[in-house]
Amino acid sequence: MKMLPKVIVHNSISIDGSLINFEVNMPLHYKIAGNFNSNMHLVGSNTAKIGIDLFLKEIPQETQDDFKKPNKKGVLWAIPDTTGKMKGLLHVLRQSEYCKDAILLISEKTSKEYIRYLKERNYNYHVVGKDKCNLRQSLELLNEKYNAKTILTDTGSILSNLLIKHGLVSEISLLFHPVVVGRKAYNLFTYLDKSLKLELTKNESFEKGYFWNLYRI
Ligand SMILES: NC(=O)c1ccc[n+]([C@@H]2O[C@H](COP(=O)([O-])OP(=O)(O)OC[C@H]3O[C@@H](n4cnc5c(N)ncnc54)[C@H](OP(=O)(O)O)[C@@H]3O)[C@@H](O)[C@H]2O)c1
Repeated sequence: MKMLPKVIVHNSISIDGSLINFEVNMPLHYKIAGNFNSNMHLVGSNTAKIGIDLFLKEIPQETQDDFKKPNKKGVLWAIPDTTGKMKGLLHVLRQSEYCKDAILLISEKTSKEYIRYLKERNYNYHVVGKDKCNLRQSLELLNEKYNAKTILTDTGSILSNLLIKHGLVSEISLLFHPVVVGRKAYNLFTYLDKSLKLELTKNESFEKGYFWNLYRI
């Protein structure tokens, strides 16, 4: 029988549950993420793409080095990207301090053009579904091929809610920011069509009103 990794949803949120439209305390977000000793993050393609637009004024040039697998420390990012949203952008991740390298999860529908782009640049990619990625199969593969025993999701509501819906998440880690977003909120559980019972297993307060709760589902 194939083994599933432990999956933890890790998000920074406002007091009213929004993922966006407030300033995320990145050092604290990643400091807490580091405590889980995970060698892999599962990152939605929207998150990866929007993150680049959000944090960079302009896209850096791709260099010859970006065609080789990098040799650096850090966490691997596995990105479900069946439609090739990251085409032309993956070198930004290779150049980033937060990402050791990207592994792409694609499907039988993914364009040949995107696959060529990945091959030319020596990215590891895996076909794990007919249309969208089969998430259970993806997690089994990441465990088996990359020894990913604990995977942290650094993603938006779409992917995290799908993972929760399919019973693939065991813990939810939330860093609450002392801010209310209001009308422009994008709620962490927008796409969840069932209720969850949670058990609080850890909590910690930080300076300036930040607090962190870890829940077991
Ligand atoms: N505050 C925080 O902690 C935090 C953290 C991360 C992100 N965010 C914010 O969240 C926003 C992005 O979130 P989002 O909810 O739009 O998207 P997302 O979760 O980042 O991306 C959606 C992902 O779900 C996959 N997907 C969609 N339908 C699927 C299906 N049926 N089966 C399997 N996989 C499927 C997509 O793959 P395909 O590409 O193959 O369709 C894609 O990888 C951004 O604004 C970002 O800044 C906030």
